[in-house]
Amino acid sequence: MTEQRKEKITIPTLYAMKAKGEPISWLTAYDFPIAQLEEQAGIEMILVGDSASMVVHGNESTLPITMDIMIAHAKAVRKGAPTSFVIGDMPFMSYHASAEDAVRNAGRFMKEAGCDAIKLEGGVRIADKVKAIVDAGIPVMGHIGLTPQSSAMLGGFKVQGKDAESARKMIEDAKALEKAGVFGMLLECVPTKVTQIIKQSVSVLIFGIGAGPGCDGQILIIHDILGLYPCFTPKFVRQYANLSPVILDALKKYKDEVRTKKFPAKEHEFAIKEEELKKLEEVLKRG
Ligand code: KIV
Repeated sequence: MTEQRKEKITIPTLYAMKAKGEPISWLTAYDFPIAQLEEQAGIEMILVGDSASMVVHGNESTLPITMDIMIAHAKAVRKGAPTSFVIGDMPFMSYHASAEDAVRNAGRFMKEAGCDAIKLEGGVRIADKVKAIVDAGIPVMGHIGLTPQSSAMLGGFKVQGKDAESARKMIEDAKALEKAGVFGMLLECVPTKVTQIIKQSVSVLIFGIGAGPGCDGQILIIHDILGLYPCFTPKFVRQYANLSPVILDALKKYKDEVRTKKFPAKEHEFAIKEEELKKLEEVLKRG
């Protein structure tokens, strides 16, 4: 059973935490059982990230995942975490072509999945889409620095803002997002000093993944912290558990017990009453 938090986490709750200097914890989740555990652990925010494309669906990038698949994940997460602040991550090409597309797809996360907000990647170049979504009454979280949906343009998964010019552009992106109405923004793979400058340049919530300790909150990908995604572990990850060998061990034991007929045991069986069995035998005899 999900242990209920007393009150639902809202944007004012998050701003109150910022005002008190209380760091906000944020994790990704893609399904019901993990969302339940995150809620029970008191994690304030959950991102239904398009990282699902890689860590759940086994793709090499975040690009292939669709709106329909993201909505299915978001619905499951919402059910598992009713009081957490759940954010739906807009997948590649769900907001790029037009402001109409952006508003319609953002609306789906709110209406079909019951999300509290949406997140999208980019700064100046998508500020018009952000404004259109905010004008429709949907809270938006920005995402700048390393933006995986445009990793091809950025030359791969690299730290961003390492030279003065790219750092200046990132500050412009942050200001454009704030002007367009975001309630917060995520900085990914950004040097700590640049994060500090961005935090001083805008007044909205600042979250980091590989952006140093000075943010209002931190996010990591759940599969990374649980040791469930062995393909690649970024420098900014701390692994809090290594579940892969634990799961592998359980699977091997199961396979062995099926093979050696130790499973199922007596306690896993269902019975039919003796008189019902006799009746059945008679019926079968009569043909
Ligand atoms: O999709 C995702 O998981 C993200 C991470 C950077 C947190 O956007």
